[in-house]
Amino acid sequence: MSDPKVIFRGTGVTRRFGRGKNLVEAVKNVDFTLTEGQITTVVGESGSGKSTLARMVLRLLPVSEGTLEFNGTDVTTITGSARADYWKDVQAVFQDPFSAFNQFFTVRRLLSRSFRLLGERAAAEARMEEALNHVGLFGADVLDRFPHQLSGGQRQRVMIARALMMQPKLLIADEATSMLDASLRVNILNVLTDLRDTLGMTILFITHDIGQANYIADQVLVMEHGEMVEQGPADKVIFDPQHEYTRRLLSDVPRLNQSA
Ligand SMILES: Nc1ncnc2c1ncn2[C@@H]1O[C@H](COP(=O)(O)OP(=O)(O)OP(=O)(O)O)[C@@H](O)[C@H]1O
Ligand SMILES: [Mg+2]
Repeated sequence: MSDPKVIFRGTGVTRRFGRGKNLVEAVKNVDFTLTEGQITTVVGESGSGKSTLARMVLRLLPVSEGTLEFNGTDVTTITGSARADYWKDVQAVFQDPFSAFNQFFTVRRLLSRSFRLLGERAAAEARMEEALNHVGLFGADVLDRFPHQLSGGQRQRVMIARALMMQPKLLIADEATSMLDASLRVNILNVLTDLRDTLGMTILFITHDIGQANYIADQVLVMEHGEMVEQGPADKVIFDPQHEYTRRLLSDVPRLNQSA
């Protein structure tokens, strides 16, 4: 087997908001890598900088300092068509699938927004079915429905399918399960691990819940107040945490601790 490949590398990544008295260092000099075909989870309390980091990786937010490399190419400052190409490779799913939907659009219309990028209609239809199948849905069941006619779990799966339409190499899921109740949450986590196992998808999964990190992650990055305080293989970070903050996050998850 060849060595696992680093698909993404962030070096000295820093993001500041505001100035003077209002200066917030949301992400401070963070170094990290994402390994191809692995699920990397960023975990940390509210306000620790997780979403800011994700938005920089997505190139939705400029970095204040540092560099971002995707597949060996510097993407720190790409704009225009280079960034549009980047967004074919790097797709995201966010917390609240309802707010991302237009209430008056069917699932078909939502997914078919990617048609113009894909060209031919028949090919796009096939791609749509394939993307839905990857998240355990069938076109015949959901394509002609409106968002309010889907369950919360189905809505989130449709959002993942929409991201998959582009056949991305990296999928970013920012609190993609936090609006769901426990059983649906596990269902979505299983969809993500299936994507890793069947497609070899690289996933950056963001959560405030270290229990979910334990369930899903190959690698865990722990953030506290904008700093990356600990990172490593999931079993190491979860079962042999080196940092006090990681231990505190773990102590908030009683069930997980018992099994440790
Ligand atoms: N556009 C912005 N302008 C000013 N400050 C911001 C902005 N976006 C984020 N911040 C600040 O940066 C810090 C990190 O925010 P971020 O949203 O990245 O945290 P988070 O870890 O995703 O939290 P949560 O778990 O609540 O989603 C917070 O102090 C936040 O208030
Ligand atoms: Mg967030």
